[in-house]
Formats: sequence, C-alpha cells, structure tokens
Amino acid sequence: MDKIINILGFAGSLRKGSYNKALLRAALELVPKGAKLEAFDLEGIPPFNQDLENDPPQKVKEFKAKIRAADAILIATPEANYTLPGVLTNAMNWASRPYGDNAFDGKPVAVMGATVGMLGTARAQYHLRQSFVFLNMVPVNQPEVMVPFAQEKIDKDGKVTDQKTRGKIGELLETLATWTKRLKGA
Ligand SMILES: Cc1cc2nc3c(=O)[nH]c(=O)nc-3n(C[C@H](O)[C@H](O)[C@H](O)COP(=O)(O)O)c2cc1C
Repeated sequence: MDKIINILGFAGSLRKGSYNKALLRAALELVPKGAKLEAFDLEGIPPFNQDLENDPPQKVKEFKAKIRAADAILIATPEANYTLPGVLTNAMNWASRPYGDNAFDGKPVAVMGATVGMLGTARAQYHLRQSFVFLNMVPVNQPEVMVPFAQEKIDKDGKVTDQKTRGKIGELLETLATWTKRLKGA
C-alpha cells in the first residue's frame, strides 16, 4: 500500500472571514485519496526578532516541527500592496532561520491565493515563488490557482461555492501529491 502523503497548509491572513482561509478549508474537503491535509493557523506567531532565532517562541517551534514532519506544503496567500502579506513573510522568515536550519529545505510546495482584486494574487504568488529558490523548495508550477473577485466565489459563511475554483484546488492538490511521490521516488 502507498504511504499517505502528509500536507501542511497555511494561509497568510489572520482575518476570521479570510478568503484565503476559505481556500484552505475547501482544500481540506478536496484532498485526494492517499493524501492528508492539516491546516496550521499563523495566529500567535510574533514579529520576527533575530535575537530569538536560536530559541524561538513556542508557536514558532510548533510551526517548524509541523513543517519538518510534513511531506509537502500548501500555501494560500493574499496579496498586500502588490506583494506578500507581512503575516506570511514573517512566519516564513521564522521557519527559515537560523541560517542552516531552514525547515522548508527540500519540501515540495503548492500555492493558491484569493483576492477581491482582478489579478487573483498573481504578483504575490510570483514573489513567493522567488523565495522558494532561496528556501530550496520544489514548487508545483501548474495549475496556477489565482482567485480574483473572491467575494463572488466565496459565500458569507466562508465556503468556496464556485465550482471552477473548487475544481482548480482539487487539481492543485492532486498534482502536489503526485509531485511529492515522484520526488520521494515512491
Ligand atoms: C494592506 C492591504 C493591501 C492590499 N493590497 C492588495 C493588492 O496589492 N492586490 C490585491 O489584489 N488586493 C489587495 N488588497 C485586498 C485584499 O485582496 C483583500 O483584503 C483580501 O480579502 C485579503 O485576503 P484575506 O481575505 O485572505 O484576508 C489589500 C488589502 C490590504 C488590507
């Protein structure tokens, strides 16, 4: 029997009604057979302080341990001022430090993102992909899951109701699981 692929997902928003958290909840429902997805909430991760990087706050230790234990990573990113939101950058900075102890090293990763704007977080996603080079992560290139006008695709209860969006999230997870197996030589 194939080993289950464990995916850790997180969204770069702390907002209760976050559209990106909604994408992650949809992913929990759409995860393919043979894979498991756990969502991690970035709430409680303090601003990065390099003085503490060798013995970081408990929530950061927990985040790094979850990343290390996962076979693959799924990131749902908003876009802020044409780039990544600080919440996401901050969490990823902690997890990548101290130098030589980057929890993301070698991890397969998939990206999705939702915005109320018209470009579906494209700019933020390409900035995130640039960081994957230094973090030595191995991204799924396609499908690109960019969700513009999220308010029309996610209802007031935070459910992704748009079938095309749900289909793309399912396809992304399927590809991430296959990609992870390939990288593991399984
Ligand atoms: C500080 C700030 C900057 C923003 N900048 C952008 C942006 O550059 N591009 C964009 O499409 N949306 C931008 N938005 C709108 C966000 O897409 C919208 O707030 C979205 O709901 C945030 O994601 P969330 O719902 O997961 O919290 C910005 C919002 C904030 C608060």
